[in-house]
Amino acid sequence: MTTLKNDTFLRALLKEPVEYTPVWMMRQAGRYLPEYRATRARAGSFMQLCMNAELATEVTLQPLERYPLDAAILFSDILTIPDAMGLGLSFAEGEGPRFARTVRTEADVASLYAPDPTDKLQYVLNAVSSIRKALDGRVPLIGFSGSPFTLACYMIEGRGSDDFRNVKAMLYSRPDLLHAILAVNARAVTDYLNAQIEAGAQAVQIFDTWGGALSHAAYQTFSLAYMKTIVDGLIKEKDGRRIPCIVFTKGGGQWLEAIAGSGADAIGLDWTTDIAEARRRVGERVALQGNLDPNVLFGSPEGIRSEVARILTAYGEGSGHVFNLGHGISQFVDPENAGVLIEAVHSLSRRR
Ligand code: CP3
Repeated sequence: MTTLKNDTFLRALLKEPVEYTPVWMMRQAGRYLPEYRATRARAGSFMQLCMNAELATEVTLQPLERYPLDAAILFSDILTIPDAMGLGLSFAEGEGPRFARTVRTEADVASLYAPDPTDKLQYVLNAVSSIRKALDGRVPLIGFSGSPFTLACYMIEGRGSDDFRNVKAMLYSRPDLLHAILAVNARAVTDYLNAQIEAGAQAVQIFDTWGGALSHAAYQTFSLAYMKTIVDGLIKEKDGRRIPCIVFTKGGGQWLEAIAGSGADAIGLDWTTDIAEARRRVGERVALQGNLDPNVLFGSPEGIRSEVARILTAYGEGSGHVFNLGHGISQFVDPENAGVLIEAVHSLSRRR
């Protein structure tokens, strides 16, 4: 077991003292980096890139070669689980994800099962072990999964959607069917995240990208309740260290108290929430991750620095803040600007 040279990120998630505010970016390995586009072209397709441990390791490390980031995130996708369930995932060039089969009828739901991660998802676990080895203790590795509800959105629609009409139709006509899908997904995500932890993930994040599309009452029942089940079932400690869990509901700013009660160690915030107010609301219960508007990276270097300063000041003194974007980095961002952001977080937070 190699010791971690930089564990600032893990300490901040547990609200332990830190020398500066750690930072990583959602989608930090991605199309805004020319070296990512080159490796993806060599792999042939996005899924082939995910399935090749050597290439997945290469792209995971690319942003760390450019910037002094405080964490690496496994290069994969949230849709690997429904793919392993046999739904047939593909990514057409320039389009979003597509599934060959959807889950809409009683019969579709009855045949769903939670895949054994050491079988159809072994390629992800191989990537995790390979990345850990390549990192050699530089920074911690984050594992991740989609939330049961967010996965269900893609499984039911078969693709992304503006209104999630089929999901909402099921929720308001056959809630029992939706609950059955969510129960299978919660089992699948728990097993998958635990397998990632066993393979070497040192923190995990649950991406609840579409939870914010639910009504207030439906969010608790159809998204948060299932994330709670997952958090309860996660391995909490490995090799003598706590494995922190981050819950990120995009558009979840109005439910922070409830999310803080889920058992997660940290809450991911999108950019629509004031982080000072978020901290007041959750108190000492959890750490906060976020929450720069990703579009700030289209502004000037001065604009980026002043937004970083504003968020650091709003969070205030003391540990418990991991700097991040409020959602994934855009493919159109200039990599130089990402560098400005990371430098600003480190230098401005050290000075305080
Ligand atoms: O953060 C990282 O660097 C790790 C890798 C990562 C990817 N996807 C790689 C990816 C992570 C954590 C994800 C999560 C993910 N995937 C989410 C949740 C977070 C979010 O953004 O809301 C969702 C909803 C997906 C599903 C997904 N994957 C969509 C909708 C798309 C297409 C849209 C797009 O941006 O092209 C993907 C493809 C995808 N996943 C890409 C990357 C780098 C781009 C694919 C490519 O290279 O062509």
